[in-house]
Amino acid sequence: MTIKKTEGVLLLGIDLGTARTAVMSNRQFRALVHTVVGFPKDIIGVKILNRTQVIGVEAIEKRAILDLYHPLQDGVLKEASEKDLDAAHEILQHVVELAQPKTGERICGIIGVPARASGSDKSQLLKIAKEFMDVAMVVSEPFMVAYGQNRLNNAIILDVGAGTIDICAMRGTVPGPESQMSILKGGNYIDALLETAIRDANPGVQVDRYLAQGIKERHGFVGETQQRVMVPLRIQGKPADVDVTEPLRITCETIVADMVEGIKRMLLQFDPESQSQALANLLLAGGGSRIRGLGPMIESQLRDYGQIRVTLADDPDFAGAEGALKLATELPTEYWDQIGEVIGA
Ligand SMILES: Nc1ncnc2c1ncn2[C@@H]1O[C@H](COP(=O)(O)OP(=O)(O)OP(=O)(O)O)[C@@H](O)[C@H]1O
Ligand SMILES: [Mg+2]
Repeated sequence: MTIKKTEGVLLLGIDLGTARTAVMSNRQFRALVHTVVGFPKDIIGVKILNRTQVIGVEAIEKRAILDLYHPLQDGVLKEASEKDLDAAHEILQHVVELAQPKTGERICGIIGVPARASGSDKSQLLKIAKEFMDVAMVVSEPFMVAYGQNRLNNAIILDVGAGTIDICAMRGTVPGPESQMSILKGGNYIDALLETAIRDANPGVQVDRYLAQGIKERHGFVGETQQRVMVPLRIQGKPADVDVTEPLRITCETIVADMVEGIKRMLLQFDPESQSQALANLLLAGGGSRIRGLGPMIESQLRDYGQIRVTLADDPDFAGAEGALKLATELPTEYWDQIGEVIGA
């Protein structure tokens, strides 16, 4: 494929995720921003922060004085409130600005959406993107991962995100709806279960979804473990070391059965003679792919199917954005509409 001329053009690959938005540019810029905007609860917050909004991880850190808006749910834009749409707008604007477009430069971006996002999800997103970009395309997230990792044929991609787990069967063509599926059980689902499980096992413990998420990110695992996971929490205000081993294992394992069923379903998209190759070419990406033991557990639950190999993407947080940027770099914008929905071409 010929590399197109990119002078005077800022190309962006954006993975707009429920939890985190990854952006990469053709000028080697990359950033990962938490997909959340906080607005001060009242005038005191405005005074403390000296701002009327806070974007990203700082908003989570200062959540006590902010109302937080996570504009994506289950991988798609929430349209319930104006504030959520405003937040989506702010995040997209923020990541484009971070990439430092030059005056007069054309900004062309490819944005990842969940495997089975609806037509209206895509057009809503493109409408917002159009305000900051000259040309924008939305494509399926697991397809971007497949493209970036060069797994375009006889491969199954599993993108374990916060809102959804997206699974995609790559068969040497741009995947259609029949080759993709989304499971509405991602990291956020685990966090909510973990929060409740820790609370149930330790009456009076103070834990919220963000604390539960942090515990999962540091210690999350499935399967056997020799080591207990002890975390410092507070019970009725008093510091205590709490054993979260079992709650953590049980809640992290809740996604495995659905993933295995999803793989079995996507496997049927391949010809029988390609199925063994696809099963030896399972790729895990997304932040949730870091849950320890996930690959081996999937392999063991599929052992009746022959030789299974699950590989982890090298850079799971940027796998989607990297693929989007690669696609943007390799494919002239006039062809973008052959791959996904486009605005502005
Ligand atoms: N080390 C880790 N162990 C377990 N989970 C992790 C780890 N690091 C991040 N995660 C989880 O990964 C999820 C975020 O991953 P990612 O950034 O791929 O999701 P997203 O793209 O924002 O979501 P989606 O694709 O569903 O829109 C969160 O649930 C986060 O808690
Ligand atoms: Mg994602």
